[in-house]
Amino acid sequence: MMKVLVVGGGGREHALAWKIKSSQHVSWVGIAPGNGGTTHVGENVNIAADDLDGIVNYVQANGVNLTVIGPEAPLAAGLADRFTSEQHLVFGPSAAAARIESDKRFAKDFMQLAGIPTAAYRTFNDHRTAKAWIERRDAPMVVKASGLAAGKGVFVCMTRQEALDAVKKIMEDKAFGAAGSDIIVEDALKGKEISLQVMTDGVDYLVLPPAQDHKRLGEGDTGPNTGGMGAYAPAELMTDTLIESCAKSIIEPTLRTFREMGTPYKGLLYVGLMITDNGPQVLEFNCRFGDPETQAVLPLLGVDLVDLMLVTVTGKLGPMMQALKLKSTDWRMLSRDNYAATVILAAAGYPGSYKKGIPITNIPTDQNNMVVFHAGTKKDQSQNLVTSGGRVLAVTGLANTLKEALYLSYEASEQIEFDGRYFRKDIGHQAQ
Ligand code: AMP
Ligand code: GLY
Repeated sequence: MMKVLVVGGGGREHALAWKIKSSQHVSWVGIAPGNGGTTHVGENVNIAADDLDGIVNYVQANGVNLTVIGPEAPLAAGLADRFTSEQHLVFGPSAAAARIESDKRFAKDFMQLAGIPTAAYRTFNDHRTAKAWIERRDAPMVVKASGLAAGKGVFVCMTRQEALDAVKKIMEDKAFGAAGSDIIVEDALKGKEISLQVMTDGVDYLVLPPAQDHKRLGEGDTGPNTGGMGAYAPAELMTDTLIESCAKSIIEPTLRTFREMGTPYKGLLYVGLMITDNGPQVLEFNCRFGDPETQAVLPLLGVDLVDLMLVTVTGKLGPMMQALKLKSTDWRMLSRDNYAATVILAAAGYPGSYKKGIPITNIPTDQNNMVVFHAGTKKDQSQNLVTSGGRVLAVTGLANTLKEALYLSYEASEQIEFDGRYFRKDIGHQAQ
């Protein structure tokens, strides 16, 4: 039996730990640092996700067999490399491969090199040149900080002035610190967004059920971008034909290019897609599971996630797929025959500033068809559950239809109480 440590403390990590705990191979799950809900599935380990030494030491001292890294920051800082060199099993790409998320400029150049469809772009490291260029082109356009900005460094600008303001915010006011010393200005793409996640050992890959996130804060996809306000899966706008097309035009060239660069990509590759009139185009890559997509996708999986992770980290995905006669795009074979819908409950003010420490009550008990994943929650000194982040809870409903899954999720979300609780009422609107 194995001991598995999940690194991170958000809703994604709660969902990972929950699914890992159900594996036939696992006797113990730790979550570092975890949150106010992860103690229901495992043991919270009081080490921050970005304390690389702390995590490596803990794993060595406690005989952890597999470490699963949730967030992008420790991956970008090289946590997976530390384990590989120590011969510990780790799920998550190397820092070199994680650049596909942590350095958007690298990602755009990579896509250009590999011929992967994405919006036309220019990169700048100087605000004057960026502004002069923006003055000469028409809106809409998208301005992005190149580095990691917790999902907040992207500005979809409907006017030239908005784009100039975004450059000022990122480069002059340094709203994202060093993450904004390079920027990308790219064409705005029109279409529907899809999150396609694949597990890969660097050569072979398996597509997970396609999902759709809801990035904007407000109903009807309005307001500022957030980390994600809700998700559902499978997203049927991602037809089999579109998935095959993404496999050939995006996923395979990406994995091939990483191998050619000498830094094979191993772990979970998240492809943020815009399905345009000209076919799927890449908005972004992430080097880890999506949040909140994971809270919808993992409850759908009918397979043992730890089995999949083990063949992925040991480079044996290909032989396993051959033995089971699985094609890379056969996501239905991994999935239960139903739908999952996840609603995010956020604190008032998110994605701007928000209060913490607000008491949370009335969380319903998990059922076969409804699970509450915690994100920004913790236990206070009196062991009462309080908010500790902007995205507080992710409530997933499971049913035979998307409509029913949404109903279950909303029914539970309505019951949960905390001051200023906010959630979008229209998750799944593009599917209906
Ligand atoms: P990113 O973190 O790069 O995926 O950007 C966050 C969000 O901004 C995406 O999920 C899209 O909603 C939006 N976005 C990013 N790039 C573009 C683009 N080129 N055209 C339209 N919307 C975009
Ligand atoms: N849901 C988008 C992300 O995880 O980046």
